[in-house]
Amino acid sequence: MSDKHFFGSSETERKLNCLRAYLSAYSTALKGQNFCRVYIDAFAGTGSRTETKAMLPFFDQDMQDVQEVTTPGSARIALETDPPFHSVVLIEQDPKKVAALKSVVDEYPGNRAHVREGDANEIVKRICSRYDWHREKMRGVIFLDPYGMEVAWETVEAIANTQALDCWYFFPLSGLYRNAPLDPLKLDQVKITSITRVFGTDSWRRDWYEERGPSDDLFGNLAAGETRAASVDRIEQWVHDRLKTVFKGTVLKPLRLRHSKSNAPMASLFFAVGNPKPAAVKVASKIATHILNVGISSQVRSR
Ligand SMILES: C[S@@+](CC[C@H](N)C(=O)[O-])C[C@H]1O[C@@H](n2cnc3c(N)ncnc32)[C@H](O)[C@@H]1O
Repeated sequence: MSDKHFFGSSETERKLNCLRAYLSAYSTALKGQNFCRVYIDAFAGTGSRTETKAMLPFFDQDMQDVQEVTTPGSARIALETDPPFHSVVLIEQDPKKVAALKSVVDEYPGNRAHVREGDANEIVKRICSRYDWHREKMRGVIFLDPYGMEVAWETVEAIANTQALDCWYFFPLSGLYRNAPLDPLKLDQVKITSITRVFGTDSWRRDWYEERGPSDDLFGNLAAGETRAASVDRIEQWVHDRLKTVFKGTVLKPLRLRHSKSNAPMASLFFAVGNPKPAAVKVASKIATHILNVGISSQVRSR
């Protein structure tokens, strides 16, 4: 079986471009300061991303040529950041991907990189609580890039509580609205538990679902009960407000990424700052706002 990590689309490239631009600007901004710069990749993958792309056919060929294109994933992007981070932590659960990550790390001998195998939630919480980040003059960036609803709220809280980590969170909007169906009769216990784990509260249920009075349905029957009134926009705003309860610096308006074929909302790329100091918030949000705005305008251009 191939060890290639097939995932994503042009939208994934947009997400990774935001990360690349931020890591470079962040590392440059902090270079002259006496901080230990740390990068944590909580869902690191293999270090590379492979996508199949349909190439345009030559004029005398009917068949489209499909080719595999491999580009750097988040781990390589971090390892290639200049000036380099003092420490790069790559977390991955899948043993095959862990093996791939270890050989990627060997390609960058100058970097102080470590691969950690296991559940990102447990490992991130452990790392966050292990250090007195401010006393030890540690600052950093963490990237949360799950496939779906894997990030537990306690993990987000632990990151925010360091007040030293800037967080890029690729938030799974589509996973969320799949688990929160319009028809509450389809909202089973597995879905409820999954959403509550992501937010650390079940207040989403009260905020997204509204009581509906008795009314005639199409067949003249009386129907009563709840319905999900919250649109995707409202849910995204709700996520933003929830993140703001723990990130004391700031949480920026996210970049909405869409499925390339259906154009349906896929995820929202959030940027949050845990450090409440105005100077830190100013630098981080100036860089990230610019990056997110570039991401939004390139999205508009490509439509
Ligand atoms: C979207 S991919 C990450 C892609 C990567 N950031 C990149 O740019 O190349 C998500 C990764 O998370 C891993 N994963 C899923 N659940 C995990 C967990 N609980 N802890 C750690 N890794 C996990 C998967 O094996 C997969 O490699």
